[in-house]
Amino acid sequence: MRAVTWQDRRKVSVDTVPDPIIQEPTDAIIKITSTNICGSDLHLYEVLGAFMDPGDILGHEPMGIVEEVGSGVTNLKAGDRVVIPFQISCGHCYMCDRTLYTQCETTQVREHGSGAALFGYSKLYGQVPGGQAEYLRVPHADFTHIVVPDGPPDDRFVYLSDVLPTAWQAVAYADVPADGSLVVLGLGPIGDMCTRIAQHTHPDRKVIGVDMVPERLARARARGIEVIDLDEAGDDLTAIIQEMTGGRGPDSVVDAVGMEAHGSPGASMVQRMAQHLPDAVTQPLLKTAGVDRLAAVTSAIDLVRRGGTVSLSGVYGGMADPMPMMTMFDKQIQFRMGQANVKKWAPDILPLLGDDDPLGVDTFATHRVSLEEAPHAYEIFQKKQDGAVKIILQP
Ligand SMILES: NC(=O)c1ccc[n+]([C@@H]2O[C@H](COP(=O)([O-])OP(=O)(O)OC[C@H]3O[C@@H](n4cnc5c(N)ncnc54)[C@H](O)[C@@H]3O)[C@@H](O)[C@H]2O)c1
Ligand SMILES: [Zn+2]
Ligand SMILES: [Zn+2]
Repeated sequence: MRAVTWQDRRKVSVDTVPDPIIQEPTDAIIKITSTNICGSDLHLYEVLGAFMDPGDILGHEPMGIVEEVGSGVTNLKAGDRVVIPFQISCGHCYMCDRTLYTQCETTQVREHGSGAALFGYSKLYGQVPGGQAEYLRVPHADFTHIVVPDGPPDDRFVYLSDVLPTAWQAVAYADVPADGSLVVLGLGPIGDMCTRIAQHTHPDRKVIGVDMVPERLARARARGIEVIDLDEAGDDLTAIIQEMTGGRGPDSVVDAVGMEAHGSPGASMVQRMAQHLPDAVTQPLLKTAGVDRLAAVTSAIDLVRRGGTVSLSGVYGGMADPMPMMTMFDKQIQFRMGQANVKKWAPDILPLLGDDDPLGVDTFATHRVSLEEAPHAYEIFQKKQDGAVKIILQP
């Protein structure tokens, strides 16, 4: 089959690799029809490259048609239309019983002290072949799937793999009062969807989005979100937002940016340096040093009102990142964070994926390209060229 593979930092290719086969009774093989590129893939493309091997198959946002199931999978059959969550979870361990599917104790990657295995997400998360390919082997397929109806286009459902539950969890964790205020930092696919969910579920909320990419600001503005261009606001961001939120700051802030934020010169240099060192040196460095570019989380702490909540959906990886403890303590801030527990939120989201399309998923993608065009797609997504916000690969 053809698959998108990681080759080196900022280099992916499309290769012919062996077809996946059933290895365990609980496996299934899915023929992929749509599979997205995610902001999380960009971390592998660049900063987390030390944990990738050339040839690793990328991708964790796939959907398609069940091709074959193992003897232990009784709730799926060939021909079923499914979305595959980005995390692999068993559905019946201590953590799964508590709907903490990204902490599944059956698939945890203990060798690296990580949570549940993820598709296409480096050695840190189990080095499981990913979903940017023609076919995907799904371990624990008896639980790791969401069946969706035949009929509507893939665009309607494909974001159930990641964007929708991630944004849903980010907003839920942000704990915004029904008529309160929310600032979303970053208007990539995750931040954009956060604003849509926050606005749709409680139209009385004040939702403010922050980014610096013109077409991302324009997308949110077109849906009635107040937006701030960070390039224009600069150091006045906090003052501007305070003025928009009764002088106190917003009740809640979502950080939908993560470890590669703009405006963090120190860590930016460490990340760049790390790219020129051998993996054996970089891996422990990335695991023990303060390596994240913290501009977004720092501004979240600064912006949120006293006693408010910061919800991190952007991915962070450094073990020794310096955090402004005095401000966090003094302002009495709540923090919630983590990878999204996809299947926990699916029942809340599915009713919003009807023909009236309140979240605008049918028109969410800016690009639909063939698998063969993945190298170019990665490049324009990372460089934010050609209006790329969300790219669907269609094998
Ligand atoms: N928690 C989860 O389960 C989960 C799932 C998917 C993605 N993520 C993470 O969410 C983050 C966003 O993902 P995405 O697909 O939207 O990626 P993306 O890279 O397209 O979006 C990030 C956006 O943040 C903007 N930005 C950069 N610095 C900023 C700053 N200082 N202030 C405000 N905005 C800034 C960028 O211009 C960009 O538009 C990534 O870190 C990704 O890894 C987490
Ligand atoms: Zn993703
Ligand atoms: Zn489990």
